Formats: sequence, structure tokens, C-alpha cells
Amino acid sequence: MDAKLKELATLIKGRDAKVIFFVGAGISTNCGIPDFRSPKTGLYSNLQKLNLPFPEAVFDINYFKKNPKAFYTLAEEMYPGKYLPSKFHYFIRLCQEKNILKRCYTQNIDALERVAGVHEDFIVEAHGSFAKVHCIKCGTEMDSVTWKKLMKKGIPRCQKCDSYVKPDIVFFGEPLPAKFFELWEKDRKDDFTVAIVAGTSLEVYPFAVLPAEISSRTTRVLMNREICADFEDCPRKSDLVMLADCDHTITKLVDLLGWHDDLEKLIQEGKKLIESPGTFALEDTTIKNEEKKVTKAEKTSKALAKKVAEAEKVVSSRKTDNSVDDLIKGIEKIEIKGEDTKR
Ligand code: OAD
Repeated sequence: MDAKLKELATLIKGRDAKVIFFVGAGISTNCGIPDFRSPKTGLYSNLQKLNLPFPEAVFDINYFKKNPKAFYTLAEEMYPGKYLPSKFHYFIRLCQEKNILKRCYTQNIDALERVAGVHEDFIVEAHGSFAKVHCIKCGTEMDSVTWKKLMKKGIPRCQKCDSYVKPDIVFFGEPLPAKFFELWEKDRKDDFTVAIVAGTSLEVYPFAVLPAEISSRTTRVLMNREICADFEDCPRKSDLVMLADCDHTITKLVDLLGWHDDLEKLIQEGKKLIESPGTFALEDTTIKNEEKKVTKAEKTSKALAKKVAEAEKVVSSRKTDNSVDDLIKGIEKIEIKGEDTKR
């Protein structure tokens, strides 16, 4: 595995590297959230108490319509906010900070990519999230605070038509969000330096076909405890398969990249942010990230004002045209950096 890791580090360190992720429940098991299909520990092996006809029924829309209790027995426990992101989540964030992150397709509904500070423009929550709640019949939205309050008293119902409501998690039998198809239409035509597939059995469609559809000029990397789907059935010569705990693999990779301290810094900053009151609500995580963006933008505009003042001084003291040009170039550079902070 060490040779493969070195090859991966070289690719990531290369010029204009572009990284895309395809992730699943396995990147959150180190946070204390079980995955679905691991024998013994996976959620689907531990649902006996719900008396389901088959384990996936807990996320099946037709079953939910008749028997929402099974899902609601788990919903409160699964609601984002109780868990901290893993090293792997922070590695995705680090790729964002290094300007090499192009996209992160996730099947997870725990929102831990957002909690780790990955900007929503990069994230595609293919199986939806808890961020919004809607009535399954009339589509009326219910705010998540009301939903959580109602859940404490029983199974929440639509305040307009009295049907059941559910969070916008994609259940079996429901379509994936439009954002998934729109962005994949673009991304599938693009060439990336590496596509990192991690913590997923790749058993659920259409997500499972993404790594198979990725351009042949992209090097695919699997960071999983076991070999899965396409990497086993249709391997590519260039595939880098790393079968181990994904946090363990990331620890080794960041050492090779010389990014160990950068990752630790993000983890420590993240912990502080998360421990501050109120951060655990999904809405607040987005707000905190927006606040960070504003601070960055403020810094940029202060730097810009300083440069403008300097330029004014130069113009009034009639220095040569060249030095004015240099300053204008300086300002343009700051403006371009300012653009970056929007993502
Ligand atoms: P699975 O439970 O099917 O697969 C998780 C994979 O991650 C397995 O191959 C594990 O061996 C591996 N794994 C677990 N912990 C790991 C770790 N620390 N390091 C490396 N690998 C690890 O989960 P998903 O593929 O995400 O759908 O499942 C896909 C979908 O099936 C879910 O989104 C969910 C479920 O039904 C919905 O909720 C709609």
C-alpha cells in the first residue's frame, strides 16, 4: 500500500490537481455512526426490534406511507448534531483549502461534510438530508424546529392536510435530488486528477455507477475496508486500491503530502467551533460557515482599501506610470482572491 500512497501523493501534489470524492457511511463509522451493511455492526443487522419485512424497508417510501413508526424510531437518533466529523471529513475540507477540491458526492445524511466546513457548492448530498421536512402528500414544508417538537409527541403530521411528513432524505422508491443529476452531467465529462471512493459498498443505484462513469483519464482510488463493486468487477489498470480503515489511510497520506499540521489545525479549529453553543443545529452550521466567509471577505476588502489608498498616494505624488501599474496589478490580485472566498 505504501507505493500506492506515494503514487497518490505525487498525483495530488502535481500541477493543477483536481480531486473528486464519492463517499458513503464508512467515512463516518469512526465518528460513532454505524454503516448499513457491515455484518454485525451495520444498521441493517440491528433492526430486529422494528419488525421489518426486510431491513431496507426502514427507508422505503411505500412502507413509510403505511408504517412510518419504524423510520421515526430511528429518526431522532440519526438527526445530525450528535457527532463530530472524522479525519476523513477534514481531509475533504483540507482539499478545499488547498483549492484542489472539485466535488464531493456523498450518500450520507449525517451532514458531517458540512460540519467539517466543506462549502455546500462542493457537496452533492445524493441521498438528501435532514435540512428540510415536507408533507409526503401535499408537499407543504414544515420547519425543522416544529418537526422536532412534534416528533417528541409522536409521529409528526402535516399541519395543512394531516398526512405524514418526512425529512428530505431520499427513500428507496424516490428520485434523487435534481442537483445530483445536473452536476453529474457536467462532472462525468470532466477529467480529474484523482477520484477518491471511500467508505461505501457501492450497492445502491444510481450512485453506484458514478465511479464506473468517471473519465478514463482520471485515476480512481478506493479507500475502503473491503473491495467493492466496480473495483472488483471492472477494475482499471490505473486503479489504486487501499483496503484499510480510511482514517488510517488518510493519516499516512497527509504525512506524505507534508500536510499533517494543516489537517491537525483544521481538526482543532473545527472542534472549537462545534463546541460553541448552538452549532449542532444544521441551520447553524451553515450560518457559522457563512460568518467565516464574511470575515474573509472583510479582510479582503480591508486589504483592497489599503491598496487603493496607496495608489492614490502614488498618483498624487506623480510617481512613474510603472509603479501605478504595479499597484493596480496588486489590486487585481486581491480582487481575484476575493472571488475565491465566495466558494
Ligand atoms: P454500506 O454500509 O453499504 O457500506 C459501507 C462500506 O464502508 C463497507 O464496504 C464497509 O466495509 C466500509 N467501511 C466501514 N467503516 C470503514 C472505515 N472506517 N474505513 C474504511 N471503510 C469502512 O454504506 P453505503 O455504501 O454508504 O441509503 O450505503 C449506501 C446507501 O445504502 C446509504 O446511503 C443508505 C443505505 O440504504 C439511504 O439511506 C437512502
